[in-house]
This record gives sequence, structure tokens and C-alpha cells, in this order.
Amino acid sequence: MTITSTVSYEANDFNSNLEREIKRLYLQAEIMWKQESRNLRWFGLQDGMSVLELGSGPGFITEKLLSLFPNSSITALDIDPVLINYCQQRLDNYLGNRLTVSTASIFDTGLPDNSFDFAIARLIFQHIPNPVDAAKEIRRVLKPGGKLVITDHDDEIFFIHEPPLPEYQMMSEKMRRGMATRNGNRRIGRQLWRILRDAGFQNPELEIIVSHSDDQGMEIFTQVIDPELFSSVVKKGWATEEEMQNYLRANHEFLSMPDSLVLLLWLMAYGEKP
Ligand SMILES: C[S@@+](CC[C@H](N)C(=O)[O-])C[C@H]1O[C@@H](n2cnc3c(N)ncnc32)[C@H](O)[C@@H]1O
Repeated sequence: MTITSTVSYEANDFNSNLEREIKRLYLQAEIMWKQESRNLRWFGLQDGMSVLELGSGPGFITEKLLSLFPNSSITALDIDPVLINYCQQRLDNYLGNRLTVSTASIFDTGLPDNSFDFAIARLIFQHIPNPVDAAKEIRRVLKPGGKLVITDHDDEIFFIHEPPLPEYQMMSEKMRRGMATRNGNRRIGRQLWRILRDAGFQNPELEIIVSHSDDQGMEIFTQVIDPELFSSVVKKGWATEEEMQNYLRANHEFLSMPDSLVLLLWLMAYGEKP
């Protein structure tokens, strides 16, 4: 399927180049996995389960799931053939064994009814229109009693800077508005519980997970909050070069303060198929 510029996420257009975006996704998987995996287990993910990962991208979470759950089979699905190909090449040794990869849309997975114990959708719901339809498609392919966890962010509680960095918030807001013109929703976090309920999931739950620079060091956060993301916001015409320069100056000052601190927050929503 061809990805057009009406979608809010294209890996080769989201950052200055594909390689840089893949690295950002890698680091983003690293800094949150401790909290994410703890919550996935708490929500009922166990070794031996058949797992569907939607919007798996380059497969960094796929790899972590394969290693944490050595008796589980994982189906990794993504709409982008380039990322699927990257995932396939990296995880070649699992293919045909515990790993299946599929180039397909979350809205039309082509997977059989009632076939998975657990589904994970990480950082994809912010990029799609009609999230309830996507959740309904996931419900269809889950077994009765099967569980879905959607992990995503909400701009209002995404990156918290101490001391506050209003220039970041301003660029982030420009990005949010721009992505909204492409069916993106960077405030999806607050909607997740409701999406699950409206898609017919039962016992919905909503949790917040946090990672921060006091624990992981500021260096990795400076790469996850990649200023190049905002360069691409300028390239797309959603912010001006002057706003970008103001942000870069303020960010430089922020990083040079000895006590600066960054927190990254995501929401994890859980529901069960009746
Ligand atoms: C921000 S990336 C997240 C990748 C991965 N889940 C992670 O956390 O590293 C969003 C992913 O969703 C995929 N995606 C976007 N729209 C999709 C759709 N309609 N169906 C399937 N995948 C989609 C993109 O191709 C991309 O790989």
C-alpha cells in the first residue's frame, strides 16, 4: 500500500532522514521498556501467549517481546513496507519460527477472527483516523478474553521540562496542529479509555508510565527529544525558522543548567474482549 502525505506518520518524513528516525525509535524503546514491560505483565501478558503487535515499525519492541517471552509467538504488523523489511532483516533468525511479519493496515489486518491472546498497539493510535474502528478490528482478531494494551502519549503531559521550557511547548503545539491536518492526534492519550469502551472492550483501565533523566541520564533524552523533529516541522511549513532558532537557543540554555530535568510520560490503556 502506498503511504501518501495525508498520513501523520511516515518514517522517512517524520525526522530529517529515515536512519535518524529509526535511531530515535530505538532509543525511545530503550528508555521506556522497563516501565512498559512491567505494566504489560501486570495487564496479563504472559510467556506462551500469542501476541499481535500493531504498528510494529522497525521491530524494537518486537525484539524485546521475543526475548522476554521465549515461548510466545509474535505477529508484527505495519503498513510501511520499508519498516517491515527492516524488521524482517534484523529479526531474520526468528522468522518462520516464533515471528510472523505482515504488511497491512490496522483497519484491515487480514488476520483470522479469534486468533490472539494479547495485542499491543504502541505509538500508532496517535497517527490514525477513526481509532474506534481500529480497536474494533483488533477486537475481532483477539480470542474471547483476549487483551489489548494501547500505549500512546498526550501532548499536555508528554515531555515535562524542569525548569519549564515554553519554547519546546510552542514547537510541540505547532507540530500537534500540523499533524492534526494529516489525521494525527497528539492528544490521543486522554481518549484511550473511551476508545476501548466504544469499541466494545470490557474492564478498561488507564495507567501512566514515566521515564526521566535523573534515572537514565540527560544524554539519551537529548536524542529522544530530537530537535531534528522540529526541523521537519519547519520544512512542512508548520513553524517558522525563527521559532525553531528560538527553541534551539532556549534548549541549549536548558541543557547547560546543572539541575535540568526531563520527564517522559505515556498512557497505557487496557481492555478485554468479552
Ligand atoms: C511512531 S511509529 C511507532 C513504531 C513502534 N510501535 C515503536 O513504538 O517503536 C508508528 C508506526 O505506526 C505505523 N502505522 C501508521 N499507520 C498505520 C496503519 N494504518 N496501519 C498499520 N501501521 C500503521 C507506522 O508505519 C509506524 O511504523
